[in-house]
Amino acid sequence: MSASTQPLAGKVALVTGASSGIGAATAIALAEAGAAVAIGARRRDRLDALAGTLRDGGATVLQLDLDVTAEQACTAAVARTRDELGGLDVLVNNAGVMLLGTILGADTEDWRRMIQTNVMGVMYMTAAAIEGMVEQGSGDIVNMSSVAGRQARKGAGVYNASKWAVNAFSESLRQEVTGRGVRVGLVEPGAVATELTDHITQPDAKAASVQMYTSMRALQAEDIARAVLHLVTQPPHVAINEVLIRPTDQER
Ligand SMILES: NC(=O)c1ccc[n+]([C@@H]2O[C@H](COP(=O)([O-])OP(=O)(O)OC[C@H]3O[C@@H](n4cnc5c(N)ncnc54)[C@H](OP(=O)(O)O)[C@@H]3O)[C@@H](O)[C@H]2O)c1
Repeated sequence: MSASTQPLAGKVALVTGASSGIGAATAIALAEAGAAVAIGARRRDRLDALAGTLRDGGATVLQLDLDVTAEQACTAAVARTRDELGGLDVLVNNAGVMLLGTILGADTEDWRRMIQTNVMGVMYMTAAAIEGMVEQGSGDIVNMSSVAGRQARKGAGVYNASKWAVNAFSESLRQEVTGRGVRVGLVEPGAVATELTDHITQPDAKAASVQMYTSMRALQAEDIARAVLHLVTQPPHVAINEVLIRPTDQER
């Protein structure tokens, strides 16, 4: 890609949950647009493979062992990114789990995992990154929410609650920092063909979810990566706050 098609040349991005799905596709899109990228997740073998792909494409890459449920790991990931890549301009809070299931009969460990990953993970990463962005007077925080952050439905209660929390936190943060040059954006996908449904523990909920995803032309991770790229490549005076993006075939 030539310099004119690399709108993020000289920028540094950090993507959480980069080991698969939307996070991996987003890391690739940001790197192709010229950013140096820090990629964080727990599965090191997946990050190794992605880092190889990115380096083959000429990108500067930093691999981060990152469990976003651990505040210290989040703080260290941001610090390493700034030390080793020279700054932090774009933070994509993408790591998440969708452990669907009814509230009745639920394993509350699923609830803890969702709240700790989807909510506290976003908050810890934001806490680590935000002051530096405010000091530099620019930056993008993109939080990966969901249609589930806008529409509650039976069988998704705690996932809904976790994404609702992401939306509220993002809007509150946006009001706090937009006057200081920092943009906060939300991306809210519908069904995207990734590994997300693999981890559902309630058998009925898993079967229903797989059926729903395979009943339509689901989005691909790259479709969401393009949306993220669109947000972070706007001119400094333009802040796209929210993008709701569903498969054409998805009614609700
Ligand atoms: N697929 C969809 O239909 C859809 C729709 C709406 C929203 N979303 C959201 O999109 C985001 C990405 O999901 P995906 O669809 O790409 O699913 P995915 O392929 O399962 O990716 C999830 C990513 O999150 C990471 N992750 C999970 N727990 C983590 C933790 N404690 N610390 C660090 N990383 C962690 C995983 O990496 P490791 O396991 O290696 O740590 C993986 O890279 C999620 O926030 C999800 O809620 C997805």
